[in-house]
Amino acid sequence: MESFADIHADIERRLVEGARSRHSPCHQAVIATSDADARVMVLRAYDAASRTLRFHTDARSPKAALIGGGESGGAPVGVLFYDQAARIQLRCKGTGRIETSGPVADAAWAASTEFARRCYMGEGPGVPSATPTSGLPDWIEGQQPTEEQVAPARGNFAVLLVELASVDWLFLSNDGHRRAVIDMASGPDETVRGRWVTP
Ligand SMILES: Cc1cc2nc3c(=O)[nH]c(=O)nc-3n(C[C@H](O)[C@H](O)[C@H](O)COP(=O)(O)O)c2cc1C
Repeated sequence: MESFADIHADIERRLVEGARSRHSPCHQAVIATSDADARVMVLRAYDAASRTLRFHTDARSPKAALIGGGESGGAPVGVLFYDQAARIQLRCKGTGRIETSGPVADAAWAASTEFARRCYMGEGPGVPSATPTSGLPDWIEGQQPTEEQVAPARGNFAVLLVELASVDWLFLSNDGHRRAVIDMASGPDETVRGRWVTP
C-alpha cells in the first residue's frame, strides 16, 4: 500500500468488518485508558462519517467513571487491534465519551438480545465479593431473562463512543515493514493526510 488514501481505506474496511462480523480479527479490541489500564471489548459499530467507534459497557464500571460523559469533554482513549493473518496492527487514538441516555444508547439497548442485557442485571464490575461470583442475582444465573425482568438493567447500560483522531497503521512484511500515521479527520481519497514513520 503506497498512498495514505489506500491505508485510510484499509483502516475503515477493517473497522466496519470488525463491527459487522464476530469472526473478524478486529471484532475485539484492547481499550486503553489514561490510568495505564487496558481491557478487551467487543467492537459494536464504526461510523465512518463521524469516525466514531461504538462499544457497550456498564455505566458503573471504573473505565466509565474515568472516561466520563460528553459535556465534560471526554477523555483520551487508545484502541488497539491486531490482525494476525494480515500482520496489520492498528493503534487508534481518540476521544472517548460515555453516554447512558440519548438516541445512540437507546438504539444500542433496543438492538441487544436479552442475554446481552442480562450482563447489566447484577452488581457493577469490580465490586469485591467474599465468594466467587458472576455478580448476577441467583435466580437468573444460566437463564434468559424476559423483557420485563431485564428492563431495570437499562439504567446500568452505557455506550462508549470513541471519536478517532489518528490511526497508527503498521504492516509487518519480510520485504520491509511499513508504518504510517493517518489523520482520521482528513480525507476522503487523495486529501487523506498522513506521515510515514519507521516501523
Ligand atoms: C473477549 C472479551 C470481551 C469483552 N467484551 C466487553 C465489552 O464489550 N464491554 C465491556 O464493558 N467489557 C467487556 N469485557 C470485559 C472487560 O475486559 C473488563 O473486564 C470489564 O469491562 C471490567 O471493567 P473495567 O475495565 O472498567 O474495570 C470483555 C472481556 C473479554 C475477555
